Amino acid sequence: MKSIVILASGNGSNFEAIVKKFREWKLEIEIKALITDNREAYAIKRAKKLSVPVILLDYSSFTSRADYNAALLSQLTELSPTLIVLAGYMKILPPEIVRKFEGRIVNIHPSLLPAFPGLRAIERAYKNGVKYTGITIHYVDEGVDTGKIIEQRCIRIRENEKLSHLERRIHRLEHYYYPRILKNLLTNHV
Ligand code: GRF
Repeated sequence: MKSIVILASGNGSNFEAIVKKFREWKLEIEIKALITDNREAYAIKRAKKLSVPVILLDYSSFTSRADYNAALLSQLTELSPTLIVLAGYMKILPPEIVRKFEGRIVNIHPSLLPAFPGLRAIERAYKNGVKYTGITIHYVDEGVDTGKIIEQRCIRIRENEKLSHLERRIHRLEHYYYPRILKNLLTNHV
């Protein structure tokens, strides 16, 4: 059976949207676990409510980045999911993980890449005065938000729109498209 593991470090709204949609669509795809590096992540609460197993690799309890990466690699190897889904995962995956799971790691980013890679992308696009922004779903490579683009959706920033309003619209777009694109990848491409 095909399967996914979702990595998230924070709020987890994309994580929740994926789980709910996959269940609503009755997909034969197992959601093996939420993996998080942050014991405070709200995503953990969402996972518990949804009865998705949580694997906490609490970053602060590791003595080095290398130890943390080794633990993550070993978890992913053991779970061996069809796809590794990044959804607000705030660490850069190390080359050994990217190489081992090449073509099987997907991320969502809240801008039209290659514009505004990295942190606070929605705010940076907004402050930059661009007229259009959006979301990008892409494969993960060894760079920061540089992997091959799978899908993009674009919205126009409205006249006098508040940043918080734009953020809500971007997140709605993410919650709508990310589950659909993943479903498409899982049923047609992997
Ligand atoms: C999303 O905007 C996603 O594009 C970015 O991180 C944010 C995660 O939000 N990579 P959430 O934790 O899913 O609510």
